[in-house]
Amino acid sequence: MKSLACHTAANQLRTRLIISLRAESPTVKTFVFKDELCGGAKPGQFLMLWIPGVDEIPLSIMDARDDGRVAVSVKALGEATVALHQKRVGEPVGVRGPFGNCFMLNGRKPLMVGGGTGIAPLMFLTRRFLSRAVSTTFVFGAKTRDELLFRGELEKFGAKRVRLVKSTEDGSCGLTGLCTEPLEQMLARERFDEVYACGPEQMILKVFELTEQSGVQMQASLERLMRCAIGLCGSCVIGKYRVCSDGPVFTSKQLRQVKNEFGLSKRDRCGKRVPLD
Ligand SMILES: Cc1cc2nc3c(=O)[nH]c(=O)nc-3n(C[C@H](O)[C@H](O)[C@H](O)COP(=O)(O)OP(=O)(O)OC[C@H]3O[C@@H](n4cnc5c(N)ncnc54)[C@H](O)[C@@H]3O)c2cc1C
Ligand code: FES
Repeated sequence: MKSLACHTAANQLRTRLIISLRAESPTVKTFVFKDELCGGAKPGQFLMLWIPGVDEIPLSIMDARDDGRVAVSVKALGEATVALHQKRVGEPVGVRGPFGNCFMLNGRKPLMVGGGTGIAPLMFLTRRFLSRAVSTTFVFGAKTRDELLFRGELEKFGAKRVRLVKSTEDGSCGLTGLCTEPLEQMLARERFDEVYACGPEQMILKVFELTEQSGVQMQASLERLMRCAIGLCGSCVIGKYRVCSDGPVFTSKQLRQVKNEFGLSKRDRCGKRVPLD
């Protein structure tokens, strides 16, 4: 449990300038800014980014450095994310955070499973594992080759440090189909110490079912509607948990406890339970 003073500082809105940006794919851009508090974030934590005059949105931290540099990778989807994509270097954004818990780095043989922008926090986690001389297996997928995020950076690590299993739904890169398809065989053939997943919730649910069958522990980062990010408003609730403060990372044991909602439903802006998209 975080101390109140710690939360108060993290929850203070800070104005920060974008110091660099790059296109990761036709729809995803990475934005870098300097922020001392978020620079100390751990893999799995998120921040709230305020796009002045538009909205404030939750984003996973893709990288955080000791010198305060912080990166987020954002898909242009709706009003806030499209407005953010129009920002240039030197323009201001507002930052609160870091919030939430983090992935626990367990064992010496981790397996990452990422889809879409869910790959972002797993990149941060992979760098942390590598800094402890732990190599990883990284299963990742997207609809097309262009949308397969961080492919270049992952390939640069080298196969000995990061073993890659790529898949695309249209077959333009790696295996054809969903990234969960090769998993069943992998989990049957090899023993992994822990599986880490982030991406669309249907993907996470499939990974959960496979890890339950093979008896491997899992940690998954979930997304829900977030407003306050500090456990007050209740908009991110899943079962007895608030994703912003009890999560966003949940263990296999916790996912079992919320199986009536996990992969099935979420809360809308009025707090009503609605089916997942
Ligand atoms: C913990 C967490 C980490 C996330 N990390 C990333 C990331 O690294 N990169 C990334 O591109 N996206 C991430 N998202 C999703 C991102 O917050 C939404 O895409 C964004 O809020 C959409 O806002 P919009 O105005 O552009 O689109 P809208 O048209 O308003 O919404 C598009 C969809 O995004 C979701 N959404 C909208 N507002 C919120 C909100 N306040 N909280 C949560 N979901 C919302 C809803 O499902 C909605 O249907 C994360 C969400 C959470 C909860
Ligand atoms: S976002 Fe308000 S309680 Fe989680």
